[in-house]
Amino acid sequence: MNGRLAMTDDSSTVVVRLLTPADWELLRDLRLQALADAPEAFASNLEREQAFGEQDWRRRLSPGSANVVAWVGDVPVGIAGCFLHDGVHELVSMWVHPSARGGGAAALLIDAIRSWVADRGGDRLVLWVVEGNDRAERAYRRVGFEPTGVEQPVPGRPSDIEREFALDLPRGGPA
Ligand SMILES: CC(C)(COP(=O)(O)OP(=O)(O)OC[C@H]1O[C@@H](n2cnc3c(N)ncnc32)[C@H](O)[C@@H]1OP(=O)(O)O)[C@@H](O)C(=O)NCCC(=O)NCCS
Repeated sequence: MNGRLAMTDDSSTVVVRLLTPADWELLRDLRLQALADAPEAFASNLEREQAFGEQDWRRRLSPGSANVVAWVGDVPVGIAGCFLHDGVHELVSMWVHPSARGGGAAALLIDAIRSWVADRGGDRLVLWVVEGNDRAERAYRRVGFEPTGVEQPVPGRPSDIEREFALDLPRGGPA
């Protein structure tokens, strides 16, 4: 991606930017906010990531990964990440601040990750949604993700199930 996407609605403009290693504290702050706000949505947990040090956060910002942040003005309102897992690009850590939900940030974050994957020659993006997270599922379906039929217990939470969704990206770049 070129580092910047934007969409305007009636009241605000959402801009999405790719983080660099220098942004590790912003990544940490947003990710810990996400884990505190929606613990049921993620396989990780707040206690585990609160113990991370600078190097752990910087590792998530290494060249093989992407982390994008949505901004309204100078306020960061959402985040998403992507990395290559078993040869497939996986969208992770998607979160929009409750006050910004429904404002278009989720679609722009996904767009930014799609562009980043396409720029790297990737042709498929996968993600996992915990069963019952209907809002997230709907946000993903709206941009074209479909369930693959694969499901598994949430790592560390065997009584919860997560379902895999995938989106095929057109060769030669985003549609
Ligand atoms: C998932 C998340 C990033 C989506 O962002 P968002 O701004 O809420 O998404 P949108 O409003 O663009 O889209 C949500 C869709 O769900 C719908 N929706 C709203 N509330 C809902 C509810 N309670 N149940 C089901 N669907 C709901 C919206 O109408 C919209 O669908 P539509 O576009 O077909 O009308 C955000 O809700 C979030 O951060 N949730 C907590 C963390 C999380 O679940 N992360 C995903 C991990 S896989």
